[in-house]
Amino acid sequence: MEKRKIAVVGAGLVGCGWAIVFARAGFRVNVFDVDPSIRAAVTGRISAALADMEMAGLVEERETIAARVTVEDELRSAVRGASYVQESVFERQDIKKDVSSQIDAVMHPQAIVGSSSSGIPASAFTEHLKNRERFLVVHPVNPPHLVPLVELVRAPWTDSAALASVRELMEEVGQTPITVRREIEGFVLNRLQGALLNEAWALFEEGYASAEDIDRTVRDGLGLRWSFMGPFETIDLNAPGGVGDYAQRLGPLYHKIALDRRDPRPWSEALIRRVEAERRAKLSPDELAERRAWRDRRLMALVAHRRRMITEEQ
Ligand SMILES: NC(=O)c1ccc[n+]([C@@H]2O[C@H](COP(=O)([O-])OP(=O)(O)OC[C@H]3O[C@@H](n4cnc5c(N)ncnc54)[C@H](O)[C@@H]3O)[C@@H](O)[C@H]2O)c1
Repeated sequence: MEKRKIAVVGAGLVGCGWAIVFARAGFRVNVFDVDPSIRAAVTGRISAALADMEMAGLVEERETIAARVTVEDELRSAVRGASYVQESVFERQDIKKDVSSQIDAVMHPQAIVGSSSSGIPASAFTEHLKNRERFLVVHPVNPPHLVPLVELVRAPWTDSAALASVRELMEEVGQTPITVRREIEGFVLNRLQGALLNEAWALFEEGYASAEDIDRTVRDGLGLRWSFMGPFETIDLNAPGGVGDYAQRLGPLYHKIALDRRDPRPWSEALIRRVEAERRAKLSPDELAERRAWRDRRLMALVAHRRRMITEEQ
């Protein structure tokens, strides 16, 4: 096993981002995807992202970084000898189970395997594995090379030393790990995101505001603070006496809001079509990829700004 060799299995949006995270930190990265057309696109996608990152001042020597990534035609050759494997295949329990079995069969027994799973806990797809104590969820935010948070979520059988070792690795490669103390569907990040999304769909469905105005409320309101502080710190600063004072003043309002939503409905087909119509009127399907690249460039500028802020505060 080579300590500085990483395998990335599944090279879509998230897998390519992970390859950049590890290569940028000096690791050799083997990438595998089951789809040959995706494999063929990996090098170009990574090079394009690195070029934008260089323009934003986030990386130097992009060619050296890109050269650390190798695309492999077989899962076995990608995983063999790697000390850490980041699985980033489709969010489906059956596929995660199957791919985890394939990795389990060829991995070094001391290697660790992190799944990018957005919400399926590792216990749902790793129980049957011979190295199951080396598997856990390492859930990133998209794109992982620009947004540093990762959630570490162990299954009941994950070894504590493996968890500690992944935490160290994530810090070494510049990510910000949090530990979710026990498994829960959606973990912390997507439960928070889900609370906001469910309310957004409900407010839209009930006709209180347009999708555009709901987006604007986050973009020009809540989101500005959220780019550098979380909800607890936000409310701690939003009442003269801090979080306790805030809870006294506004706790009853939030309780009433929660009581309003005790019987949530699934997002219906008709509702999805209405939101989609509003979004597609603003952004046609063939503009989605360019808008995604624009989003990444805005994120790069924000990351560069945050770095300057941190340096100035020190
Ligand atoms: N997109 C996001 O916002 C986001 C954020 C965090 C985590 N995730 C999670 O990351 C994982 C990947 O999501 P994504 O958005 O990159 O999806 P994606 O569709 O862009 O990529 C998934 C890739 O997995 C490959 N794949 C499927 N089966 C495979 C197999 N058997 N072996 C090897 N490769 C296989 C597919 O060919 C595809 O390229 C999912 O678990 C997802 O929930 C996604």
